[in-house]
Amino acid sequence: MLQGKKILLGISGSIAAYKTAVLVRLLIKEGAEVKVVMTPAAKEFVSPLTLSTLSKNAVLTDIANNDSWNNHVILGRWADIMIIAPLSCNSLAKLAHGLCDNLLTAVYLSATCPVFVAPAMDEDMWNHPATQNNVDIIKSFGNTIIPVESGELASGLIGEGRMAEPQTIVNALNNCFLSSKELAGKKVLVTAGPTYEAIDPVRFIGNHSSGKMGVAIANEFQKRGAEVTLVLGPSSISTMPNMNVVRVQSAEEMFEACSNIFGTMDIAIMSAAVADYTPAIVAEEKIKKSTDRFSIELKKTKDILKHLGEIKKEKQLLIGFALETQDEKKYALKKLSEKNADLIVLNSLNDNGAGFGFDTNKITIFDKSGREYQFDTKSKTAVAIDIVNTIIQL
Ligand code: CTP
Repeated sequence: MLQGKKILLGISGSIAAYKTAVLVRLLIKEGAEVKVVMTPAAKEFVSPLTLSTLSKNAVLTDIANNDSWNNHVILGRWADIMIIAPLSCNSLAKLAHGLCDNLLTAVYLSATCPVFVAPAMDEDMWNHPATQNNVDIIKSFGNTIIPVESGELASGLIGEGRMAEPQTIVNALNNCFLSSKELAGKKVLVTAGPTYEAIDPVRFIGNHSSGKMGVAIANEFQKRGAEVTLVLGPSSISTMPNMNVVRVQSAEEMFEACSNIFGTMDIAIMSAAVADYTPAIVAEEKIKKSTDRFSIELKKTKDILKHLGEIKKEKQLLIGFALETQDEKKYALKKLSEKNADLIVLNSLNDNGAGFGFDTNKITIFDKSGREYQFDTKSKTAVAIDIVNTIIQL
């Protein structure tokens, strides 16, 4: 996908700059033409000689060399895509506020191509409201942020802020060049979020699902050109504009919504955390406090994934999730066969950074032929890309 593409790599001053040697190697292996621009601080972390050798192009670091001037406008216009990796906290602030005191920031301001950035910094700096504000500002300019990853940081602390791995960056650039028509004409159903099962007019039984994972999957499908219908339980996560969203509350409503439209779908991904049980009787009036002990009789909800597996036609793809706390693989494979799904995406609550409430997830995907695809802990947006890529391979 990157064959013949002109890629301008901007490197700013962060320890993660050492990874750019691998990044340049991967880009060249993909057939891209790479030019490198570095900030003065970046030279402390990785040698221009290494990068010029790997990229087969001179590395530019200064606005002027001796008597000649490096034309930042021409460089900005040369590129098909610009990637700034690592993007340090300081350089991020400069991009957000239009400062151009070095060649990299001047080229950025002149770039007419899509710009991707892969931030890298310590967790406290990353979480600071000033940094998050700057991220929002450069997002609003149309730049794409390749999410930071969790792990060991330069400070020795463990947390969020690591630059995305070089291969993740290459994948993000590849995705950018994938035609937006890749999934054009495909209809995709995604369920997301929790369900709320009413006890009486003011109370319900719910769960901690935020809907982030399912919404990220729906967004990714829409980016690839699919026509997406998102059946979304109670969740405050916002979706991409123009997405067809069907809002539901209960498992029964989600079942009805999905059963009604599944027949016209090519792909269905059931990522919602659907309640397994619902009150057998919903009180019409608010239940008053009386006895010391109080029980609610629950009945099973309808299993949406299982039902869709029963009515699935040959050409339809059905993907389920499995959230497990023990014997993860055994239970995931059981769900794959019992619910007649084509893929099961497993997340284990035993993995750090996986499950409800996190911005990250760690998944393993199982298919019917016994193949197992393992992925590292990543942001939910990056996980959504992996899930969509795996479905496309299928
Ligand atoms: N699911 C569904 N309808 C339900 C319950 C679950 O469609 N009433 C779907 C989920 O969206 C998920 C898959 O089934 O894709 C597995 O959900 P999970 O809660 O992990 O498993 P359950 O089938 O509910 O089994 P258990 O709770 O015993 O693990």
